[in-house]
Amino acid sequence: MSDLAKNLKDKLTGRFLVIDGPDGAGKSTQIKQLAEHLQSYGVEVVQTRDPGGTTIGDKIRHILLDNSHNEMTVSCEMLLYMASRAQLMGEVIAPAIAKNQCVICDRWVSSTLAYQVAEAKATPQEIIDVYNAALKTRWPDLTIILDLPPDEGLKRITGTPDRMEAKGVEFHQKVYDRFIAQAKEQPDIFALVDATGAVEDVQKRLRETLENWTFPK
Ligand code: TMP
Repeated sequence: MSDLAKNLKDKLTGRFLVIDGPDGAGKSTQIKQLAEHLQSYGVEVVQTRDPGGTTIGDKIRHILLDNSHNEMTVSCEMLLYMASRAQLMGEVIAPAIAKNQCVICDRWVSSTLAYQVAEAKATPQEIIDVYNAALKTRWPDLTIILDLPPDEGLKRITGTPDRMEAKGVEFHQKVYDRFIAQAKEQPDIFALVDATGAVEDVQKRLRETLENWTFPK
């Protein structure tokens, strides 16, 4: 086994990684390619997404993103995101970590701390309190934020925008600012990766970030 493969395997065994960021940042494509890359180095990867990732979570996702649910309050929205997440942790993430697999999750509570805080009806502390009460468990070992300015992200969205995507550029600018602020406030558990440019360039930056990352003991 090469030194790089051994380093990645040792480093990522039993880790909980999140890739998050503004709409249109290319998370799903990047996660798929990253997971394949890590698997080729012998890392056992479990890929999942929030909201969703379980039968119950997928139903909650459908309610959350339904364009006709304009009357949904931010409290209801926040609790539904958290409910889907609680199910995902119990059904998928915690069992995978217990088997020493490496979980890569598309979005997590960093999204609630960006989107629902941007809606100005929930404070970060309220969200953290609900997270701790509902999940009673660990935070991700590392959250990587794909850094793409909102005007560029919204341009990349194809098809009919879902309920969250349709909230307009001013809202998405606030979401973006909340993502960047979280990364800057907690550099020990967050990394920022430039998501502008070609898919393969972003993938290269993502791989380098992981290869160079040191987890606290
Ligand atoms: P996705 O399409 O990237 O999976 O995300 C679904 C939408 O839900 C996206 O617009 C971001 C939004 N969202 C929140 O508003 N709060 C959250 O906690 C999460 C996880 C996602």
